[in-house]
Amino acid sequence: MPHRSMQSVLRLCLLMAAVRLRGLHSRASLMRLGVCYYPEHWDPALWPRDAARMAELGLSIVRIGEFSWSRIEPARGAYDWEWLDLAIETLAGAGLDIMLGTPTATPPKWMIDAHPDMLAWDKEGRPRRFGSRRHYCFSSEAYREECSRIVMQMASRYGAHPSVTSWQTDNEYGCHDTVRSYSPAALAAFRLWLRKRYGEIAALNDAWGTVFWSQVYSSFEEVDLPNLTVTEPNPAHVLDFYRFSSDQVISFNRMQTDILRKHAPSCDVYHNFMGFFTDFDHFQLSNDIDVAGWDSYPLGFLDVGPYALDDKQRYMRQGHPDFAAFHHDLYRACGRGRFAVLEQQPGPVNWAHHNPAPLNGMVRLWTHEAAAHGAELTSYFRWRQAPFAQEQWHAGLLRSDDAPAAAYEEVEKAHKELKSLENEGPTKKTATHADIAMVFSYETQWMSEIQPQGARWNYLGLFYEWYAAARRFGCNIDILAPGAALQKYSVVLTPSLFHISDSAMRAYGETDAALVFGPRCGSKTEAMQTPSNLAPGPLQSLLPVRVMHSESFPEAHKESGRYSGEAVYGRIWLDRLETELAPIATTDDGAGLLFRQERRWLFAAWPDSAFLTRVLGDVFSEAGLDAAILPEGVRKRSNGDCVWTLNYNAAPAALSDMEKDLGGKVLLGNAEQLAPAGLLVRKKQ
Ligand code: GAL
Repeated sequence: MPHRSMQSVLRLCLLMAAVRLRGLHSRASLMRLGVCYYPEHWDPALWPRDAARMAELGLSIVRIGEFSWSRIEPARGAYDWEWLDLAIETLAGAGLDIMLGTPTATPPKWMIDAHPDMLAWDKEGRPRRFGSRRHYCFSSEAYREECSRIVMQMASRYGAHPSVTSWQTDNEYGCHDTVRSYSPAALAAFRLWLRKRYGEIAALNDAWGTVFWSQVYSSFEEVDLPNLTVTEPNPAHVLDFYRFSSDQVISFNRMQTDILRKHAPSCDVYHNFMGFFTDFDHFQLSNDIDVAGWDSYPLGFLDVGPYALDDKQRYMRQGHPDFAAFHHDLYRACGRGRFAVLEQQPGPVNWAHHNPAPLNGMVRLWTHEAAAHGAELTSYFRWRQAPFAQEQWHAGLLRSDDAPAAAYEEVEKAHKELKSLENEGPTKKTATHADIAMVFSYETQWMSEIQPQGARWNYLGLFYEWYAAARRFGCNIDILAPGAALQKYSVVLTPSLFHISDSAMRAYGETDAALVFGPRCGSKTEAMQTPSNLAPGPLQSLLPVRVMHSESFPEAHKESGRYSGEAVYGRIWLDRLETELAPIATTDDGAGLLFRQERRWLFAAWPDSAFLTRVLGDVFSEAGLDAAILPEGVRKRSNGDCVWTLNYNAAPAALSDMEKDLGGKVLLGNAEQLAPAGLLVRKKQ
C-alpha cells in the first residue's frame, strides 16, 4: 500500500515539525495565546488557511471539539472520526497545540430520544428540552454511562497524539442554571447522598431541626427535593440539596478526568469556569483538574452583573476594572497556582441585555491583565463569527466574511508585547506573590441565598466590594478557600464567613497577619443553625464579642457614625454586639460599627465604600504594605519583576507623583500618562 505509507510519512513529518514548534512556543512563555475554533462549522477547504493565519497571528493553541458530539457520533455507535482526524492534522501541521473538549455539554438528539429521563427538571418540576445545550441531569446514570463511553472513545483515539496537549472537560458546568435538577434521578441520588452523610434518619432530623413545623422523617425514603413547597422549605434541607448538587457536578467531572488520566496521562486537564458563578464548589472540583480555566466576558458581565448604574455607564466599553482580576485571583487559587482564560471576549457578545463593543485597546488590556495575574493562556472566543444559529451576533477575531474584526490587530499587538516582556520580566513559571489574602466560601454564598434575612444582603456582592476596595491600593491579592494556610500574608480579609470550620479557625490562629472580619461571621453552624454561644461562634476565641441581635435595612437607610473623627456609614446589615471592647467607630445612637483588638478587626455593619477604604488604608499601612490609592479606574498588578499599571477609563489618566516615583525601567507605555485603555509596564528597580 505505497499510497498509504506515503501518507503516514507525511503525517509523521508534520507532527515532528509541530512538536518542534511547540517546544519553541512553550519555552519561557509568559502567557500563551490561543483561540476557540469550531472546524465542524466550516468547509474543510477553509481549515488550512485558518490554521496558518492563527499561527501567523501568534496563537499557539487552539481549543476545539466541545460541542461536536452529533458530528462525532451521528447515530449511536456509528462514529465518524474522519473529519476530526483531518481537523487535528491540519491544525497540528501549522504548529498549533490542540486542547480537545469532551462534548458532553451537548448530547445529540438521538440520545435524548433513547433516554428521555436523562433531562434535568426545573424547580417547577418540568423536564427541560432538547434544542439548545446543557440538557442533562448530573444525576442521570444513563447519561453518565453515555458520557464515559464518548470520553473513552475520544481519549483512546487522541490521548497519545503529540499535538493534543490538553483536554477540557464538558463546557461551563452549571451554565444556564443547570447545576440543580429536580428530576426523579436527582431525587433518588439525593436520598442516597443523605443516607451516606447522616447514617441514621435521627441524625438528619436533628441537623435539620425537623421538629419545627412537624417535618420529622422516619426514613430517608420519605425525604423529597426542596421544591414546590407551600412556603419556604427547611433551610438545612435546601443547603444539603445545594451541597449534594455541587457534589454531583464534582463526581460527574471526576468520571471524565479518571478516563482522561488513563488514556492521556501526559496531558493537562482543564475546565472552563464562569464569571460570578457559585452553584458548585470550584475549589473542590479543581482538585481533579490541572489548570482552572475560566471564561472572561467583561462587558457582558458589566451589563448583567450587580453593578451600580454609574459604573455601568462609566465602564460600558471597558468592563469593570476588577471583574477579570477578581476571577483571575479566585481561579488561580482553585488551580493551585495554575489558571487560564479559556474564552476571552473579543467584541460584542450576543447574550447580555445590551451588547456594546469594547473600547479600542481593551482586548489588548484584558490580555495583559491576565498575564499580570499569572495566567498560562488567554484563548479568544471565537476564531470566526458564525453566520448561523444562536450566536450570530457574537463577535470573533474574524468577521463571518473572513475579514479581520476589530480585535485581530489587538491580539497581534498583545502577542508581540508579551514576547518582548519575556526577555525582561517574568516567565510563566514565576509564582505571583501577594501580601493580602481574602477568604472566600461557596457555602456562605449558598447559606446567604437560602436565608438572606434582608433583600439587599448578597455575600458575593459584599465580597466583591471588599476585593475592589483592597485593589484600589494597588496590592496583589490571593483569594483562598477557608482553611487554606495564611502564614505568608500580611493582611487577611474575611468579608463574611457564616460557618467557621475548625480548619478555618486553625488557619486564623496560625498567622500573624492583621485579620479583618465583616458582618455575620460565625453566625451559623455547619447545619445552618445558630451557634449555642451565638455569633460569631468560634471566633469568640480570637475576639471577645457576642452578637445579641442583628438588623437588616432597606435601600435608603444608612447608619451614620464616626471613625477617626470622620463621618462614616454602615448599610444593609448591623450586628448589635455585647463586648468589653470599646468600638472604634460608633453610630450616632452608640452602637458599634467597628471593633478592634490588637491586629484583629471586626465590622459589625456592612461598611459603605468610603468607610471600608478608610479602614483598609489604616490596616494596610499598619501592616507595612506599600499601598496608596490609585486614580479612579486605574489598577496595578505585579508578576515577577514586572509591574503593570492599567487604565480602565475611556479617558487618559495621569499617574500620581507617587506612581511616577516608583521608577524602574519602562518596558511598555508611557510613565507620565496612560492612554484610554492604555497600560504601562515597568521592571521593578
Ligand atoms: C460561553 C460559552 C461559549 C459561548 C460564549 C458566548 O458561556 O462557553 O460556548 O456560548 O459563552 O459568549
